Amino acid sequence: MRALVTGAAGFIGSHLVERLLADGHAVIGVDDLSTGGRANLPGHAAEFRFVQGTVLDASLIDDLVSEVDVVFHLAAAVGAFVIQERTLRSLLTNVHGTENVLDSAHRNGVRVLVASTSEIYGKNTKVGLTESDDRLVGSPLKTRWTYSEAKAIDESLTCSYVRELGLDAVIVRLFNTVGPRQSGRYGMVIPRLVNQALHERPLTVFGTGRQVRCFCHVQDVVPALVRLAQAREVNGIAVNLGSTEQVSILELATRVLELTGSGSGIVKMSYEEAYGAGYEDLQRRVPDCTRARELIGFRPERTLDDIIRAVIDEQTRTAQVVTA
Ligand SMILES: NC(=O)c1ccc[n+]([C@@H]2O[C@H](COP(=O)([O-])OP(=O)(O)OC[C@H]3O[C@@H](n4cnc5c(N)ncnc54)[C@H](O)[C@@H]3O)[C@@H](O)[C@H]2O)c1
Repeated sequence: MRALVTGAAGFIGSHLVERLLADGHAVIGVDDLSTGGRANLPGHAAEFRFVQGTVLDASLIDDLVSEVDVVFHLAAAVGAFVIQERTLRSLLTNVHGTENVLDSAHRNGVRVLVASTSEIYGKNTKVGLTESDDRLVGSPLKTRWTYSEAKAIDESLTCSYVRELGLDAVIVRLFNTVGPRQSGRYGMVIPRLVNQALHERPLTVFGTGRQVRCFCHVQDVVPALVRLAQAREVNGIAVNLGSTEQVSILELATRVLELTGSGSGIVKMSYEEAYGAGYEDLQRRVPDCTRARELIGFRPERTLDDIIRAVIDEQTRTAQVVTA
């Protein structure tokens, strides 16, 4: 298989590139390096080519799509800090970038996997969110909801291309995905807490700390992306991918302290202080992954402790410093 990975130099994209190459596929990676890094990718690999460019460049994307059998569309503006600070650019990337990829895939007859997000569900706190559950989001005028809105448009666009124009595509709704190479600079909680613990700085927990999340190891997610891209019978639907192991952010911070052996304490910070005025958080985000299990046998194997240990190992090796 020849694959194009957009957002290849990012956290999930770089793990996906590695996996595809290890499976014997030829890969082109494209990334504008806005949050990703070239160092995340192989230097020289026979079957890999890296192109620095943006998904907003329709003619570049068209050239690259015409060379492959499948596109993994992961390029996006991601992370609470990025969305808050560069809202317009993020919206344009997340809407027009996806539109370019879908349009080109349709014209070239190429299958696409579109990375969407659990943010789609917004404030819906149901335990075990299924793909048909309702979205419950705040005003589109609030910056907070613009990522969810853009990804929702991506999903609607994808479905319309499938229904009306015969595009071959699958949407993947990723819940919190973590592991080595995820940067804490843009608001991702586990790398940030680990970094604070390793530097003996207080761990900052936003809000009450009672909000519940489920974290899935990127090494459990990536093989599922490959299987879904190859399952051509899975067309025009969304599939949740995530862990169902629930943890509150306060419990998470405590676990990070235990596993790092850090003497740091935990301090609470208001959302306003962390993200600016008007930020709303979600009390619970727990997926139901029955569809992924039935379609491709998805069953995450790594625990939260495995994830935290992997992030500690990486940060200890690379001596990262996160200032957020
Ligand atoms: N990590 C998660 O928990 C999570 C959860 C839900 C959804 N997702 C989705 O998964 C995908 C990958 O996210 P990630 O966590 O690896 O984040 P990331 O920021 O590490 O990766 C995104 C990549 O896209 C690149 N990019 C941004 N704008 C671009 C543009 N205009 N043209 C080309 N490249 C561009 C960035 O440089 C970066 O390398 C995204 O679509 C994101 O919405 C991730």
